[in-house]
Amino acid sequence: MKQPCISQREFAERRERLAARLPVNSMVVVPSATLQHRNSDVESPFRQDSDFYYLSGFDEPDALILISNLISKGKSVLTYTLFCQPRDPQMEVWNGYRAGPEGVLVDYLADRSFSIDEADERLPELLDGIESVYFCMGTHYQTEVRVEHWLKSMRKKRRQGVSVPSRLVELSPVLHEMRLFKSAQEIEVMRASGEISAQGHVRAMQRCRPGLMEYQLEAEIIYHFMQHGCRLPAYSSIVGGGKNACVLHYISNNKVLRDGDLVLIDAGCEVDYYAGDITRTFPVNGRFSEAQRALYELVLKAQSACLAAIKPGIPWEETHDISVSVITEGLVELGILKGNPLELIDCGAYKAFYMHRLGHWLGMDVHDVGDYKIEGEWRSLQPGMVMTVEPGIYIAPDNESVDACWRGIGIRIEDDVLITSQGCEVLTASVPKTVEEIEALMAVARQA
Ligand code: GLY
Ligand code: MN
Ligand code: MN
Repeated sequence: MKQPCISQREFAERRERLAARLPVNSMVVVPSATLQHRNSDVESPFRQDSDFYYLSGFDEPDALILISNLISKGKSVLTYTLFCQPRDPQMEVWNGYRAGPEGVLVDYLADRSFSIDEADERLPELLDGIESVYFCMGTHYQTEVRVEHWLKSMRKKRRQGVSVPSRLVELSPVLHEMRLFKSAQEIEVMRASGEISAQGHVRAMQRCRPGLMEYQLEAEIIYHFMQHGCRLPAYSSIVGGGKNACVLHYISNNKVLRDGDLVLIDAGCEVDYYAGDITRTFPVNGRFSEAQRALYELVLKAQSACLAAIKPGIPWEETHDISVSVITEGLVELGILKGNPLELIDCGAYKAFYMHRLGHWLGMDVHDVGDYKIEGEWRSLQPGMVMTVEPGIYIAPDNESVDACWRGIGIRIEDDVLITSQGCEVLTASVPKTVEEIEALMAVARQA
């Protein structure tokens, strides 16, 4: 199935933009992911490191990127070096084809390439004359140790004229700020991941019946993702029936879906490394009870108020505060919280029912990179950012302070939102959200 994807031209432009943001005579070092052992002779499916893929589009394990901007004849010259696994007919028979150092020159536009086996030997030579080395610290096993090792071996050659880098600098503020703002190609890819994720949720609503296991609904969603070219979900799907919806990171998905309960599904696919992230909550039997409907409509009211407010210039925190106000006032109206809403907000009483934030940046990582504060202040939303909007209400099954009719109900409604110059675009709009839309969709499916 053909999906939109990021072009090699765009990967090259990203490298150019990154190099242009760094002082001359810098080198960026980004290691790839490695295969993760699952058990015995089994590996987990490989998923490339997001930073590495963002700069290369190369999805093999055990590789290393270098991007340098050395001054030569008065001009800054960008050099893109890729270390990768060497061609090896024996290994390729078992583990799959490799591009090899020759292949990455052509297919991934590397200026020079070497076998990954040569990295530790070549790096001291390639770092000669570099002043600043940029890499993400504390993220990849042993990167710091390897860099230290390269510098140590360079220091031994100072008398031969070798010039050792004098600054080790954290790369993430620069690289992750780039990743926070999505390009036209990224937006196209994210529209696709949003739409495929949305239709996966539609399928789950259509197939839901009392008596199914939670993992059977999960299977419907994964089926849809794979049928539309998405080999893996962006994260472990949450399918929680009844009180399991109150467990925020519930992924066991192994209980029966009961007549009269709601089910909460939080699932999204990945298209060319970009995540969708949707939550819908709906009745297992297709009809909301009175209590379920009252709470659901309150969460939806909070989400709609946030979506209406989202536009360039709004501080990140303000969107969360809107959701807190709507939810707290609504919980007071329903008699679940008692007191003055402003005081209940001040003392954090709402956190017993709404204990997470409104959302997060979304991109190649489901909880994507990018700072939320700049110089101590919440940053404001800007066109090109993508975030989730996902208020929720969760009433613990053993919460004796509320009427029994509310206990064990968990509801979250989550959409993916692109900030545009005028306001926002909901990338996941095609999955029903109002009580009427959901009940109508499920009623038609039951008759079919
Ligand atoms: N699916 C993870 C989240 O919504 O944050
Ligand atoms: Mn989310
Ligand atoms: Mn989610």
